[in-house]
Amino acid sequence: MESDRIIKDSILKDFRDLKIMAIELTLSIIKPDAVSKGHMGEILARFEKNGLRIVAAKVSLLSRWQVEQIYGIHKGRPFYQDLLQFMTSGPVMLAVLEGEDAVAKNREIMGNTDPHLALPGTIRADFGTAANRNAVHGSDGPDRARYEIACLFEVGEIYSQIWLPERERHHQSAGS
Ligand code: CMP
Repeated sequence: MESDRIIKDSILKDFRDLKIMAIELTLSIIKPDAVSKGHMGEILARFEKNGLRIVAAKVSLLSRWQVEQIYGIHKGRPFYQDLLQFMTSGPVMLAVLEGEDAVAKNREIMGNTDPHLALPGTIRADFGTAANRNAVHGSDGPDRARYEIACLFEVGEIYSQIWLPERERHHQSAGS
């Protein structure tokens, strides 16, 4: 009916400029350089101040195998061996962050990979010293985040409403 259409158009007009953001999870790794300098707490506070909830966190000494799982996509690049050595050189803090647009927000808070190019006030500008000593890692997309989180956390360690691990999804779809 014409009146229905007019009402619908008017509702849509009100919402035209509303950006609908999804609640996402992302993985953060506070790297050995930042942990050894005692910046772990300040970096976690940045996440919370920017509206990201910490739904899992642990200090861990990563094995070479774990680092290869996360960074294997860079195999063959000139910095790869140094990256493996560095990421296994001391404890890191692994954190799962949850929030609206969490992947992009975390990347914005981190700043450019190279701390010298990162905007003032970003984590890498404040705590990193070089591209290969840049204080933090963050997932670069939602699918990648799901993969990285699954590599480094057990299901029961994540206190998130939205985390639905692959094996549960398979279980559910098999049962339905
Ligand atoms: P991260 O975001 O953890 O993902 C890949 C890492 O490789 C990156 O941060 C840097 O620490 C490192 N990296 C990327 N580019 C370079 C580079 N040009 N030189 C040295 N290290 C790099």
